[in-house]
Amino acid sequence: MSEVALLVEGLAAGYGPLKIVRGVSLACRPHELTVLLGRNGAGKTTTLSAIAGLIPTMEGTVSLFGTPQTGTTVDRVQAGVGLVQEGKRVFRARSVEDNLRLGGYSIRRTRGAISDGIDRAYERFPILKEKRRDVAGSLSGGQQQMLAIAQALMPQPTVLMLDEPSAGLAPAIVEQVFGEIASLAKDGLCVLLVEQLIDHSLAVADRVAVLDGGQITIDTDIASLDNLDRLRESYLGTSFTEAGSADGRERTPRT
Ligand SMILES: Nc1ncnc2c1ncn2[C@@H]1O[C@H](COP(=O)(O)OP(=O)(O)OP(=O)(O)O)[C@@H](O)[C@H]1O
Ligand SMILES: [Mg+2]
Repeated sequence: MSEVALLVEGLAAGYGPLKIVRGVSLACRPHELTVLLGRNGAGKTTTLSAIAGLIPTMEGTVSLFGTPQTGTTVDRVQAGVGLVQEGKRVFRARSVEDNLRLGGYSIRRTRGAISDGIDRAYERFPILKEKRRDVAGSLSGGQQQMLAIAQALMPQPTVLMLDEPSAGLAPAIVEQVFGEIASLAKDGLCVLLVEQLIDHSLAVADRVAVLDGGQITIDTDIASLDNLDRLRESYLGTSFTEAGSADGRERTPRT
């Protein structure tokens, strides 16, 4: 088994004095896609935010290849942590290529390194090359998600975290985006995918963890996941369906 890329041990994090997640431990490896499932409000985004350094760690540690991460978000980007936040956060009024360039400027790099990164992005996502002069806001939902991922890849992370990349996408597009995410793991990245879509996620995941009430309640590799119904019903709520979410919040499909 390869070296652990991202190690989270006993993590507690929240907002102000409010502890939202506690005792969260996860180990993710290169070439591995771990899906972190959980219903609305379970603390998934809070966990990713703490790993990325967007909010402080109240307890526990986050390590990257054995090095504890105590610095700012920028320090963590430089150390190799990438985060694609929920909601396809691209600069809609800027061109596709400008968006990639901006992704590269989050770390100090030479002009050559940025253009190499852009070339790599176009190789992985040929549609972005085709649309490189178009404004990001004119892309479809799926294409914007690809752009958000390509932007996060610009600093060449070793760990890539994605927060509900399926949100707002039509099912066929979700499969395409998940296929791209799975291929990132196959190519060697350590991928931590936060999702609510159980079936789509399990189809591409190597490991699955479930966050419920701010704590990890299941953490297993997919091959050892013996009772999918238990995962679905006990931990994600019986009202959960892939068409909507546990609280009935609508997700508007986009192409
Ligand atoms: N900035 C904030 N200040 C205070 N409380 C917050 C803040 N952000 C989130 N929370 C609370 O923390 C809890 C966990 O939220 P979080 O966004 O981490 O859940 P989630 O699992 O990502 O949910 P979702 O599926 O809706 O994205 C919720 O009760 C939420 O109301
Ligand atoms: Mg969230």
